[in-house]
Amino acid sequence: MPSCLIVGATRGIGAELARQYTGDGWRVIGTFRGAADGALLGARCARAVRADVVANGWAVELGRALAGEVLDLVIINAGVSGPQTDRVEPPDPASFDLVMRTNVLASMQLIPVIAPALPADGKLVVISSRMGSIGGAEDPSWWLYRASKAALNSVLKSASLALGSRGVVCMALHPGWVQTDMGGPHAQLPVGESVTSMRRVIAAANRSHNGRFLNYNGEQLEW
Ligand SMILES: NC(=O)c1ccc[n+]([C@@H]2O[C@H](COP(=O)([O-])OP(=O)(O)OC[C@H]3O[C@@H](n4cnc5c(N)ncnc54)[C@H](OP(=O)(O)O)[C@@H]3O)[C@@H](O)[C@H]2O)c1
Repeated sequence: MPSCLIVGATRGIGAELARQYTGDGWRVIGTFRGAADGALLGARCARAVRADVVANGWAVELGRALAGEVLDLVIINAGVSGPQTDRVEPPDPASFDLVMRTNVLASMQLIPVIAPALPADGKLVVISSRMGSIGGAEDPSWWLYRASKAALNSVLKSASLALGSRGVVCMALHPGWVQTDMGGPHAQLPVGESVTSMRRVIAAANRSHNGRFLNYNGEQLEW
């Protein structure tokens, strides 16, 4: 039975990833923050582990909790959008810290800890965003969020260079504009469709996909 860790599995895309992988026979380990979410998540997947990705020492603690697990797939999904902005205006430091810690630092903390649990041909996926594409940017809105996902993409690229030599496939995926709390009700894609599509891309990925930034439908995106 293949196994999968989903960081941020309580709502939206993460919850749907947990639901679909579990339904497909995977052993899913999902993370949650709130105590009430633990019981809910525990009923939906094989194991629920508490992890607030902005808490001090969270990644080391998660690594300890998962000692001995072999993880065929790790998906780092937890993310926040931060303040909506249309113009270039200074972010307040608290928003900057929260967005950067959640969207960037958390992956930099977890990847080194979790890497030994990934076998050769294991897969590491970060849920990024097309809004992090520097080459594809067309307007200055949401600039803090964009900066965080561009930084996350850089983190993923470094991880691919570090882990690729032993066969681990690392990818940054854009889920599309998805109907979740973050994407809002007017978003383009139902969450089930986004996740089904991303799962297809993940399943088809091989070593040639290591270090790539892909759309939910598999098309290559510009960094
Ligand atoms: N929706 C879109 O259109 C869209 C587009 C591009 C990229 N994305 C990316 O896709 C990912 C998932 O987004 P979504 O739309 O599913 O968002 P969402 O519905 O707002 O869910 C966010 C998830 O991240 C978790 N999370 C946030 N901060 C956390 C923290 N400090 N510790 C642990 N977990 C934390 C939340 O847990 P709690 O339930 O505990 O808050 C929740 O499970 C994000 O990385 C987002 O940037 C989304």
